Amino acid sequence: MDTNINLFTPYKIGDLELPNRIVMAPLTRNRAGKGNVPHQLNAEYYAQRASAGLIISEATQISPQGQGYPFTPGIHSPEQIAGWKLVTDAVHQNGGRIYLQLWHVGRISHPDLQPDGALPVAPSAIKPKGEAWTYEGMKPFVTPRALETWEIPEIVQQYRQGAQNALAAGFDGVEIHAANGYLIDQFLRDGTNHRTDRYGSSLENRARFLLEITQAVIGVWGAKKVGVRLSPSGTFNDMSDSDPLLTFGYVAEALNQFDLAYLHIYEATEADIRHGGTVVPTSHLRERYQGTLMVNGGYTLEKANSVLAAKQADLVSFGRLFIANPDLPKRFLYNAPLNEPDESTFYGGTARGYTDYPTLELQKAH
Ligand SMILES: Cc1cc2nc3c(=O)[nH]c(=O)nc-3n(C[C@H](O)[C@H](O)[C@H](O)COP(=O)(O)O)c2cc1C
Repeated sequence: MDTNINLFTPYKIGDLELPNRIVMAPLTRNRAGKGNVPHQLNAEYYAQRASAGLIISEATQISPQGQGYPFTPGIHSPEQIAGWKLVTDAVHQNGGRIYLQLWHVGRISHPDLQPDGALPVAPSAIKPKGEAWTYEGMKPFVTPRALETWEIPEIVQQYRQGAQNALAAGFDGVEIHAANGYLIDQFLRDGTNHRTDRYGSSLENRARFLLEITQAVIGVWGAKKVGVRLSPSGTFNDMSDSDPLLTFGYVAEALNQFDLAYLHIYEATEADIRHGGTVVPTSHLRERYQGTLMVNGGYTLEKANSVLAAKQADLVSFGRLFIANPDLPKRFLYNAPLNEPDESTFYGGTARGYTDYPTLELQKAH
């Protein structure tokens, strides 16, 4: 126990100094403009949250094929790079720091969202349960097309290009989204990866895609500006694994070779526990991973301070609390009341429920 460490203890990642350990978790808000280009409203939203120790952007597709929902931003066109520059400039002008989350959804898409109406791709042709959100509303998921072995290095190359584009857009680093049942997670777990080539079967082979991407992205940024996000207990997007303790213990150990900015863990949610999957305790990963560990999922001020003091983690990220409280660090500092997030405006829409949550000053003035 070290009671001197709390959310307000500064933290250094490489040469990036975080004034606090309150990280804004990646949050898809489906409010990109035409061509999936970020615009002024998005810049305003992120700038409002610049007092976070670090902001991680919403998941951002590295290619048109990587898209799985309407109005999510990309990082593969010159217009998108210019749009993101508005965001990074606004965050930096307000004294903040921001990473981009690199994303490919794999099978969590639909031909309606894919170039030329093609099938979404995945490690194996296994249809997820549930429905895709298309421009015409919800439609049942389809059976994806299994990637050919030769196509996989091309996708690794798209991650490298996305990382390069993020550098051009003025970000402070990137986070590789290997969580929540999207493409990389689909490779990691044996519920979705039935391949028999060098990207499937053994644990080593299932982790290869993530490790190749990590290596490629580090080639652009250097290791200390690259984070990886995992959700070892996650069942979202119809995910499963026969031995998550083994799988994610292996992945955490394999990531030690890189000296990354951080490993970001989305811990088990109530829904995951309800689905009856194996919960991977963060202690299991803390024992195996030697670098900076960021935890997430249902944290409050008290719970966050207690895991930091107990040295179970180094950083804590907050999702829904940051949606509703642009000045979350200040509210934590003063133990002030928190605004409630409005779920009906999470995904898509306008400034309402996006940039209009009041700060403490505004509330006091009324
Ligand atoms: C509206 C919404 C959008 C989200 N989008 C993303 C995303 O783009 N990338 C990601 O890794 N996680 C995403 N998540 C998960 C959050 O980052 C976070 O793990 C989750 O909200 C739990 O943290 P919390 O209890 O502090 O909200 C999203 C969650 C919500 C509520």
